[in-house]
Amino acid sequence: MKILIVGSGGREHALAWKISQSKHCKRLYCAPGNGGLGQIAELVPIEESHISELAAWAGEKKIDLTVVGPEVPLSLGIVDEFESRSLNIYGPNKKAAEIERSKIFAKEFMARHRIPTGHFKIADTPENALKILNSGEFSFPVVIKADGLAGGKGVSICANIKRAEDTINDLMVKKKFGSAGERILIEEYLKGRELSFIVITDGVRVQPLVTTMDHKAAYDGDKGPNTGGMGAISPSPFVSEKLFSQIMDEIIFPTITRLLEEGRRFKGTLYAGLMVTEEGPKVLEYNCRFGDPETQAQMLRLESDLVEILMSIVEEDLLREEIKWSPKPSGCVVLASGGYPLRYETNKLIAGLEEVSKVPGLVIFHAGTKLVEGHFYTSGGRVLNVCASELTLTQAMKKIYEYVPAIYFEGMFYRKDIGAMKEGK
Ligand code: AMP
Ligand code: GLY
Repeated sequence: MKILIVGSGGREHALAWKISQSKHCKRLYCAPGNGGLGQIAELVPIEESHISELAAWAGEKKIDLTVVGPEVPLSLGIVDEFESRSLNIYGPNKKAAEIERSKIFAKEFMARHRIPTGHFKIADTPENALKILNSGEFSFPVVIKADGLAGGKGVSICANIKRAEDTINDLMVKKKFGSAGERILIEEYLKGRELSFIVITDGVRVQPLVTTMDHKAAYDGDKGPNTGGMGAISPSPFVSEKLFSQIMDEIIFPTITRLLEEGRRFKGTLYAGLMVTEEGPKVLEYNCRFGDPETQAQMLRLESDLVEILMSIVEEDLLREEIKWSPKPSGCVVLASGGYPLRYETNKLIAGLEEVSKVPGLVIFHAGTKLVEGHFYTSGGRVLNVCASELTLTQAMKKIYEYVPAIYFEGMFYRKDIGAMKEGK
């Protein structure tokens, strides 16, 4: 088969790595890809948001399967575009992807179907938002969210009314995230342990992936600003069998079934961002795609053929046999550019990568890298993912942390407590 991967991060490199091991994969392409992806796939210079161009290219090349990593092309309707040309593509269509694109849609959907989530109100003008805040309905801290995709930056946890007023001003008056701030959500602040719960589904049948835990804060001890994720481990030490069944029964199955009933059959990866509160798990948000860096940790443990799994979803016949996973835990540490997730510099030469890439048992997935005249340079905030899977999580993390210091680029930083969990949220 000829397979195309859309995206350019560590998640896409991990998917490509696993797909390249499939007996079905004869040629692998990636659009637009990164430095590391260029070593296992042919790079196609088309941006991930140029969905018609991608579909036209895939049609011309007779691509047998396209796998979409990020949410933006999914929200733009890349799946509808490909399907209208009878091209196989893995991911939810535009109507189903609405569950991530619009936080207001997701909240109203959950309220309609009594899927556990925090209390919320919607405001469509700044006056309206202030009236809700001053009504005393919400205590502080309160959570304020832009409705549309804002690259993970549209969420503010406001400790007091002043902060809340500033946030409303930024979103609705200054329009910091453009039209994403036309309507906003005001939400109850949920206390508890945060959890990513990821399943794949053909819209009817569901298979959970192995559990995983992301480390979202930029610095050790869960300090600093929230990022896309600074590292991940699998399995998650915080999902007991009881909690697992509760999440499947109260959240995952109702979500998939109700979407189907509403004419939004969801085919692809459903990622529920949860808060496990004293009252049980509640949904913070849905994502319509694989996690990054959760996928890096999960792919290291996948033993089944990924192409067969993805094709069974495209063909609406998710394998009835269980997906096979290695029992060995895995970990992933993200090496990031100084300043990330705020301002950071790029174009820094990466040293030591070639040597570390040869260490048996270590797997390195690239994110923000590019290859120029035989040398890798940084090109993004999250640059590299150093991963390993060993008999125990401690051994896996020890191996990763032994070799990370042998990689260097100016400003490089990483968390030193991935998998340590003492202060994990
Ligand atoms: P979201 O993109 O909606 O998942 O929000 C980003 C992050 O903000 C989450 O990963 C949580 O850490 C935090 N967050 C979002 N909503 C809430 C909430 N209602 N209560 C507490 N924390 C929240
Ligand atoms: N690691 C968080 C995400 O993929 O959304």
